[in-house]
Amino acid sequence: MSSADIAREAAAKEAIKYVTDGAVVGVGTGSTAMVFLRELHRLISNGHVKDVLLVPTSTETEIEIINLGLAHLLRYPWQVNHIDVAVDGADEVDRNKNLVKGGGAALTREKIVDYWARSFVVIVDESKVFDKIPAKHPIPIEVIPFAWPIVKARLEEIGGVVNLRFGSGKRGPIVTDNGNYILDYVPKTEIVPDEAEGFIKRVPGVVEVGLFNGKRVSKVIIGRPNGSIITM
Ligand code: 5RP
Repeated sequence: MSSADIAREAAAKEAIKYVTDGAVVGVGTGSTAMVFLRELHRLISNGHVKDVLLVPTSTETEIEIINLGLAHLLRYPWQVNHIDVAVDGADEVDRNKNLVKGGGAALTREKIVDYWARSFVVIVDESKVFDKIPAKHPIPIEVIPFAWPIVKARLEEIGGVVNLRFGSGKRGPIVTDNGNYILDYVPKTEIVPDEAEGFIKRVPGVVEVGLFNGKRVSKVIIGRPNGSIITM
């Protein structure tokens, strides 16, 4: 196992402690969230976790739940009236628990599920913690296809660079689970995350922004390469 794998596993195992018997669990998207899902699967299979229901934050996660043989536990938002805990990864985290998410283009469903949950637990490895965000990743923005050039122009007018995200092979823009496109935005100057989240969200055509407010995050679990964890 690489040191990143060890760190991810340490964070994911700690997050399991937030899952109680009978809980409705929001399951995040990405490699770290999948480590959590596989660990949860192991505990469900050996009877250590009972009667949970799983609400996926993306089609990718939904497929993984099915592939693990857990389709009977799969639920969609319209089939539950609350989510007890959501466990999700992030691309970047700052000291106030603000997040950049959407590296996997799932930010809209992630924000719906994660913000809805009574407890929102973020699992990351140490390399994703920064003093200021965005640090190394652009801010992903989900936009309706009709509007992408207009949103791009509006944000570049304010300052920064905006790129339409393409899939591997560049055959065309990637299309989200909601039938939309993703713009990746690198602001020219430092941003205040919650102000930028609100401002970008108000541009017509924007569906959701991959900035998540730290006030909505209950806990960040940071896995370290030696297998230890720290929390914020
Ligand atoms: C997907 C996400 C992911 O949570 C984020 O990209 C982190 O993924 P990984 O754990 O694979 O680094 O926001 O939209």
